[in-house]
Amino acid sequence: MANRKPYVGGNWKMNLHRGEAHALARQLRQTLTMADKVEVTVMPAFPYLIEVAEILKGSAIKVGAQDFYTQANGAFTGEVSLSMVKDCGCQVVLVGHSERRHVIGESDALINEKVLAALGAGLEVILAIGEKLDQREAGKTDSINAGQVCLGLAGVKAEQMAKVTLAYEPVWAIGTGKTATAADAQNAHLAIRKTVASLYGQTVADGVRIQYGGSCKPSNAKELFSQPDIDGGLIGGAALKAVDFKGIVEAAL
Ligand code: PGA
Repeated sequence: MANRKPYVGGNWKMNLHRGEAHALARQLRQTLTMADKVEVTVMPAFPYLIEVAEILKGSAIKVGAQDFYTQANGAFTGEVSLSMVKDCGCQVVLVGHSERRHVIGESDALINEKVLAALGAGLEVILAIGEKLDQREAGKTDSINAGQVCLGLAGVKAEQMAKVTLAYEPVWAIGTGKTATAADAQNAHLAIRKTVASLYGQTVADGVRIQYGGSCKPSNAKELFSQPDIDGGLIGGAALKAVDFKGIVEAAL
């Protein structure tokens, strides 16, 4: 993992109601003692952001938002601004998750606008990318990832890259129980790092963290995270139970 500090994100998605979100945050606060050696962010649903952030205040666990809108304020019914998520205690935002790309229909252009807006607001960004199954089977994994990296980061300056983490999440592996083999994931991560090098040079590429996501669990995390270009994980299902998430964070040590 070079000198990169491992980074594990927990994306709670549209799961956990108020009491469950509070309980999980409390359990993580009590049990994740190694969170100073691994960077950890959890991303609850919007209604509970402020309360989860209160519970985790003063701990090493950061809180992130799963989404936001690019505009500062105004007539955007149903949307939430960056200053609002900051106000709730978020330091991190997730952009480009496959469910937002492929279920909600976000375009590369909107994803790029979101990356630029979040960095402009001083927030950290986790930019998720990844190929669908038919794209993998057609041998397009690396070109799809390169395209999503280039389009997602368009206009991002080299000095802003310190606030960007990439998350490689093959769409076919998310929530399916199918994990990329450590070797396949490593190949994809290396290719992604080369794309970053082509955009920003080797020093920036060597510094950027690339998380793996897609059915990552305590039993496979160690092998995945021991690959040279895998710097932690973005976790969905296994982030909903303290014991599983803790196991994954420990695997990143
Ligand atoms: P999963 O989700 O761990 O449930 O596969 C990962 C993600 O969507 O970030």
